Amino acid sequence: MSLPAEMAELEQIPAEVDARLAAVADLDELAEIDSAYLGKKSALTAAKKQLGRIDPEQRKAAGRAVNEIRAGIEAAIAVTRDRLSAAARAAQLEAERLDLTETRERIRRGSYHLVTQARDRLEDVFVGMGFTVAEGPEVETAWYNFEALNIPEWHPARGSFDTIFVNLGEPEQVMLRSHTSPVQIRTMETTEPPIYIVAPGRTFRTDTADATHLPAFNQIEGLVIDRGITMGDLAGTIDSFVHAFFGGEVKTRLRPSYFPFTEPSAEFDISRPDGSWLELGGCGMVHPNVLRNCGIDPDEWQGFAFGFGIDRLAVMRYQLDDIRELVNNDVRFLRQF
Ligand code: PHE
Repeated sequence: MSLPAEMAELEQIPAEVDARLAAVADLDELAEIDSAYLGKKSALTAAKKQLGRIDPEQRKAAGRAVNEIRAGIEAAIAVTRDRLSAAARAAQLEAERLDLTETRERIRRGSYHLVTQARDRLEDVFVGMGFTVAEGPEVETAWYNFEALNIPEWHPARGSFDTIFVNLGEPEQVMLRSHTSPVQIRTMETTEPPIYIVAPGRTFRTDTADATHLPAFNQIEGLVIDRGITMGDLAGTIDSFVHAFFGGEVKTRLRPSYFPFTEPSAEFDISRPDGSWLELGGCGMVHPNVLRNCGIDPDEWQGFAFGFGIDRLAVMRYQLDDIRELVNNDVRFLRQF
């Protein structure tokens, strides 16, 4: 470079500028660098004025050298400006980006209702034992809810079901099912034995809600029809199910009872940790009249049935004080499960 001695220090400026540009943080700082090295008070601007005072022979070459330095710095600043503007634009886009998945509160996931959980677990346990799940309508006729189950019109057991009738057709012929046993009949009517089903679902009675009753509740029915089925199979099935559901320590027992649709009939109990017994449901060998009502020959096929309340089971399993908690819909209660 052809700089006169008095301008020799200008030669260091490009390196100085490069060092500052390498460390520059933002466009504001770049503007400072720009004015420091190219502005009115800069050494380069001052050098232009000095050119008039140097020897005319050197002036042209010195002027060219000063301009070269200036052009070099301008180019370096321009490149840096482009780089910083692109980064600033990207940062702004990032800051203003709308995150459509963003939520203001932590999402609280819902969960299945306690009774639904109990029902699902029961189904899983029975499916694991080889049963399939059957369903039927919640509004039934007297044939399915009573007659086919060996409860004729005159039978006193009709009264014990506290039935809610529907105002449709002949009086007391259409009703909300008072148990899940009608699903037995519907299944036997349409399915060739062997039959291994469980039928969970909603059932209804005229009960007033109290700590142990709900007018709309849930039952699960079990039905097995096969050759050579005995009361021993029934007891064994109930025992395996109770162990799978409650755990191995819980014992079961059958107590003689009466249902028109089973003969013999029993109630089944499970043991509490303190040794006392708790009634869970009813069961028995399917009555021959019931098999005949469904076109099944009782001399060839035998079977057992059982039924119990799912809500009661949930109350027992979680030791609730009041069955009405299940339907109060208090999320503080429901969230615990
Ligand atoms: N359906 C009976 C009830 O609701 C229970 C039951 C089912 C009993 C199957 C015996 C066999 O009371």
